Amino acid sequence: MNPDTPPPAAATPPTHTLRWDNEAETQAFAARLAQALHLKGGDAFIALHGDLGAGKTTLVRYLLRALGVSGRVKSPTYAVVESYELPALSIWHLDFYRFNDPQEFEDAGLRELFASPGLKLAEWPEKAVPHLPVADWDLFLRSTGEASRTVQLQANSARGVQLWAACAGA
Ligand SMILES: Nc1ncnc2c1ncn2[C@@H]1O[C@H](COP(=O)(O)OP(=O)(O)O)[C@@H](O)[C@H]1O
Ligand SMILES: [Mg+2]
Repeated sequence: MNPDTPPPAAATPPTHTLRWDNEAETQAFAARLAQALHLKGGDAFIALHGDLGAGKTTLVRYLLRALGVSGRVKSPTYAVVESYELPALSIWHLDFYRFNDPQEFEDAGLRELFASPGLKLAEWPEKAVPHLPVADWDLFLRSTGEASRTVQLQANSARGVQLWAACAGA
């Protein structure tokens, strides 16, 4: 190799390990993330991985509340997507658990959705992987007890890294 060739960019994106010992800590993290999103304009795609019951929907509910969404936050398991309009932000909560028809991605307008500015929160992203853009954050939630969760946060983009910095500093 030419010794002047610069080294390749870091292959592994930065990851952080979070621990939420109870639901109040999940809620507190959601509040910090909402603050960080406010600071950064709210444009982001956050992919939520983890088994059934890991806490993906719970985190989304606390986040939407903290962002100012009032009223019922339905789990989008059947509808694939639930959308919320705040004065300054569009939010889409997606759940690909039952997703199995790639045509559905086109028909439901999801390509346009992911190309639009706003906050996208997706559960079971691995079920729609060839269609989805790279997420700013991949969150891997794991249950470690009745109320405790360990979460790996992977920031895949400059925006994701900035969001983490804003979140950690909030
Ligand atoms: N620290 C915690 N964070 C998130 N959820 C928790 C926590 N502790 C207990 N729970 C409970 O675990 C369940 C998570 O369910 P849910 O959010 O629907 O999971 P998923 O969407 O990942 O399938 C809820 O009943 C929630 O009240
Ligand atoms: Mg869920």
